[in-house]
Amino acid sequence: MNALHADAVYPPSDETVARAHVTAAKYQEMYDASLTDPEGFWGEQGKRIDWIKPFTQVKDVNYDFGNVSINWYSDGTLNVSANCIDRHLENRCDQTAIIWEPDSPEEPAQHITYKELHRRTCRMANILVSMGVRKGDRVVIYLPMIPEAAYAMLACARIGAIHSIVFAGFSPDALAARVNGCDAKVVITADEAPRGGRKTALKSNADAALLHTKDSVKCLVVKRTGGQTTWVDGRDFDYNEMALEADDYCAPAEMNAEDPLFILYTSGSTGQPKGVVHTSGGYLAYAAMTHEITFDYHDGDIYWCTADVGWVTGHSYIVYGPLANGATTLMFEGVPTYPDASRFWQVCQKHKVNQFYTAPTALRALMGQGNEWVEKCDLSDLKVLGTVGEPINPEAWNWYNEVVGKGKCPIVDTWWQTETGGHLMTPLPGAHAMKPGAAMKPFFGIQPVVLDPTSGGEIEGNGVEGVLCIKDSWPGQMRTVWGDHERFEKTYFSDYKGYYFTGDGCRRDEDGDYWITGRVDDVINVSGHRMGTAEVESALVAHTAVAEAAVVGYPHEIKGQGIYCYVTLMNDRDPSDELLKELRTWVRTEIGPIASPDVIQWAPGLPKTRSGKIMRRILRKIAENDFGSLGDTSTLADPSVVDDLIANRANKG
Ligand code: WTA
Repeated sequence: MNALHADAVYPPSDETVARAHVTAAKYQEMYDASLTDPEGFWGEQGKRIDWIKPFTQVKDVNYDFGNVSINWYSDGTLNVSANCIDRHLENRCDQTAIIWEPDSPEEPAQHITYKELHRRTCRMANILVSMGVRKGDRVVIYLPMIPEAAYAMLACARIGAIHSIVFAGFSPDALAARVNGCDAKVVITADEAPRGGRKTALKSNADAALLHTKDSVKCLVVKRTGGQTTWVDGRDFDYNEMALEADDYCAPAEMNAEDPLFILYTSGSTGQPKGVVHTSGGYLAYAAMTHEITFDYHDGDIYWCTADVGWVTGHSYIVYGPLANGATTLMFEGVPTYPDASRFWQVCQKHKVNQFYTAPTALRALMGQGNEWVEKCDLSDLKVLGTVGEPINPEAWNWYNEVVGKGKCPIVDTWWQTETGGHLMTPLPGAHAMKPGAAMKPFFGIQPVVLDPTSGGEIEGNGVEGVLCIKDSWPGQMRTVWGDHERFEKTYFSDYKGYYFTGDGCRRDEDGDYWITGRVDDVINVSGHRMGTAEVESALVAHTAVAEAAVVGYPHEIKGQGIYCYVTLMNDRDPSDELLKELRTWVRTEIGPIASPDVIQWAPGLPKTRSGKIMRRILRKIAENDFGSLGDTSTLADPSVVDDLIANRANKG
């Protein structure tokens, strides 16, 4: 932590305040109203949606463990795709809805107007219907960052099917688990996914996955590169060919506000990833509102979120929020460093981007490449910068502020989760001062509380630290875990009764501003991607050479956290460099490249209590190279294990 910047406070500039939707006074007035009269406040915000049948009931929420149920606008009906497309046709049919920037700068960008988006989405919807997809059916989307990913999402919404996007970096096994997890009827994929000049064979990954799913699952294949694919007649469908024939109009289905819009699998502290369920009305209203206010989006602005649609950020802030607002949203297929480290800034210059939203891990990687990559580009159109996914360190924040924003763009450090649907805490451009690394203030209707982890009691006052929970609900909140409501209640509502438990720790500083201190559970954050240590452990022990494995996070300069694995081998196996490589490849194939272990340390034994519980606290300290504060090791079944682990601590390189 850089002491120089740790206490710095950056008030918004006059220019920022002058154009902002929400100023300091307005924030206070709206925030107070959102707490004193939530029904009135959210009833008003519900008007952001065009309802087919207007709601009469705003909020119906119960946080009591055993009876948790969350409903917003529950007697209203709508269609999400009509809200993102059709209602804009009257006034902005020729406005660009999506700017698509391909992986290679040599390939031309595409500008898809709202009219074109309507046509493409309708065709995709009609194709899905012709493949037998009906209201309530699940469709898995496994696509690169191409416009068809947005068409597919909106097409599902149009016919009332529930999409579940699987990040294109996931392995066939992970894809199969998600297809089976929601019993999907169709998988939409592409021949290949170009990224950073390399190609991932998506269709052949899908082929491998479909060997482990029901025979009835169909596959719709989008042509991206024209690369060779194997074809299974009767199962595989050619999107490009079918789109030529498909009708240009598909009537939007009338859906209830609480009908599921999508499932998105995310990592938890135990077991398999869980299918987070978001519904239609409340989610869309919240995504639209946060998109407009957090980024201070104004009509005509060009907005770019660099996330992938495989993550919740891509759902809420590339597709649903911006399109519900009639915005122009940029979709980028590539990576920040291809063909070189100026790509992000080249794209900002080329498309005159006004709001730019990215992850700290990308900023740290780019910061290390030197300022000249930024400085050679014209970034004068930038107005607001944003970050998401993990705490941003003050060095990266300052670099973002000074080198990218030239000291004139507010930085919104948005704290939220897959589960929350949209931002829960962030400074607002024209309303709040910023502190590098702080999530600062709750969004409207959000009541953060800091709890004592032992007593579960609320810690009042400022200058305090504890577990972060949220009192009461907001419209964008997840409603359940797909197929397992009990797990939903147990994960989020059982440890601290009457609150939503976020899994994060936080500090409320002397001024009452919030700082996220990181996860308090066994979830780690690798390059802004959530990973359950249990998932990596179960992948490792699935290998025949491995008897036991324990995985922890450790500080990593670029990724934020790296994956540190302690591995105990079967008696008949010996450690070797080949085996180390093999295990690394194994985890990559079991889960995907994002789960690739950074460090594997051979551990003849793991520190366990006498009851057999692995003491992760100790393993974390060793991985962090912090041997001075291991705490009490006397309760271990065999304390000498720790000395061995310290002596042989792997070189992180
Ligand atoms: C972390 C991503 C600090 C946090 C939208 C949270 C953050 C988890 C921030 C959710 C931030 C996200 N500052 N930490 N601005 N944003 N996190 O579900 O630990 O992929 O619980 O959602 O990322 O990750 P998820």
